[in-house]
This record gives sequence, C-alpha cells and structure tokens, in this order.
Amino acid sequence: MQIIDGKAVADEIKKEIALEMEAILASGKKIPHLVAILVGNNGSSETYVANKVKSCEELGFKSSLLRFPPTITESELLAEVIKVNENDDMDGLIVQLPLPNHINPDKVMETISPRKDVDGFHPINIGRMAKGLPAYISATPQGVLDLLDRYGIETSGKHCVVVGRSQIVGLPMSILMQRNTKIGNCTVTLTHSRTQNLAEMCATADILIAALGIPEFITAEFIKEGAVVIDVGLTRVEDTTKKSGFALKGDVKFDEVAPKCSYITPVPKGVGPMTIVSLMKNTLLSAKRAIY
Ligand code: GUN
Repeated sequence: MQIIDGKAVADEIKKEIALEMEAILASGKKIPHLVAILVGNNGSSETYVANKVKSCEELGFKSSLLRFPPTITESELLAEVIKVNENDDMDGLIVQLPLPNHINPDKVMETISPRKDVDGFHPINIGRMAKGLPAYISATPQGVLDLLDRYGIETSGKHCVVVGRSQIVGLPMSILMQRNTKIGNCTVTLTHSRTQNLAEMCATADILIAALGIPEFITAEFIKEGAVVIDVGLTRVEDTTKKSGFALKGDVKFDEVAPKCSYITPVPKGVGPMTIVSLMKNTLLSAKRAIY
C-alpha cells in the first residue's frame, strides 16, 4: 500500500508554476490576477479564501479579495460580477460558495464570464469539459486527475466508482474519468444518496473516489482488495484535544481501509493541497489566454 502525498505533488506543481512566472516576468507578459468574491463571514469560506489569496502571494500572482456583507442583494452581487468580467486586468474570478439563501448560486455562476470562470462551474465550461473541448476544469477534480497521473496509476479500462454527485466534485469527476484521455477511459458508476447496495457497489471499484462529505463513512467493507482510494472529504469535526477545537476528517475510515488498498490519499495532505494549486493553474491559463 502506498500513501499518495498530495502535499508533495502540490509543491512540485507550484515549482512548475513558479518557473513559468519567472518567464512571464522576464518577458513582460501579463501577471495572472485572481479575484475572489466573499459574501458574509462563513468560517470555512474565510479560511479557504485566505488560503487562495496566500497562494497567489507566494506565486507572485496579483489577487483582489472583494468582500460583501451577507445582506447584499442578488442583483447587487451580479453587478459586481459584471464589473470583474469587464475589467481587462482581472483574469480569473471565483465567488466563494456557499452564498446566503436569498442568492441563487446558479445565477451567479452563469453571470461569471466563462473566460474568467477559473472554478470551472459555468455551464459552458461544464459542457465543454463533457465534450472534451478546452475548458476550465474545476479545481478539486483536476487535482485528483493530477494525483493519479503523477503516481502513474493506470485508469484505462478500470471500474471507477464515484460516491457523491455534487456539482463541484462528484459530477465533474464522473465525466472526467470516462473521457478518452490519458487519465480517463474508465467505466464509471456515479453513486449518490439514493443508491441501493452502496457498499457492494463500491466493493467492485478498482478506483473509488469518495466525495460525499460524511466523515469516515467509507469503511473496509466498501473496498476491493488492491483498490485505489481517493478521499475528497474534508469535514471539520469537533476535537477538544486540538488547539483549533476541531479536526479535519475525510470520508474514508483510513486506518481500516488503507491496508486493503494499493494506493490511498490521506486527510489532510491528500487531495486538499491539490485543489488550490489547480485553481492557480487555471488562473495562469487564463492570463495566458490558453483556453479562450
Ligand atoms: N466552496 C467550496 N469549494 C469551493 C470551490 O472550489 N470554489 C468556490 N467558489 N467555492 C467553494
């Protein structure tokens, strides 16, 4: 069994981006500029956005954090998105989710210019991804593809079971794993909360991608001997022994699942560090106009 070191792969990709940045600076080309919109003060969202801004600083990207109160109306927020769309210096825009209940996230995502949609959430980017056309791929699924690739894990012809059908991870992951690409060509089963016999279904997986958001839900009985297990879950669980008061838990019960696997991602330091790096890669692609 081999533990997939997401932190090491993420650091490797950061070095590759840093090299590209050196070339951009030397040739006077456009410095990537990421804009993050944060509405309200959800604790997890604050942390995620702060980490995205910090990564921009580390890599020499420009970043702008636009904060709005939770009382902002939907039309006011859409007007702010349009301002970013029209600003030629701004390459990528993310609107951190979740949004307050009175704002329709689909409307917001559809208002972001597909060209600046570095989260890959716009229907045009999802459609282009499904067709295999150049598109922004959302960050976490792209991170999973990069981990499988850099560890030389064979995916062609394998049975990949994805647990969870979220727009952010499960759905795009299932589309990506069946595409006719180097990391792809799987037979994919997308499972969700209505799936019957989930454990039996998962136990037929050569590659199991858990993205349901329930801590330690996936136990040893879900796992075929020798499977590759990718744990996308990241849930804060109260833990009074920690200074922060919480621990981060994945969807997989690591201690009992790991001995059955050929490869497994831990939590933390598995998929997590890859997500931000993928967002940085998309922002770089946008500054280079590499997709649109
Ligand atoms: N909330 C949780 N994950 C994400 C993400 O990848 N992008 C945005 N915009 N919001 C999120």
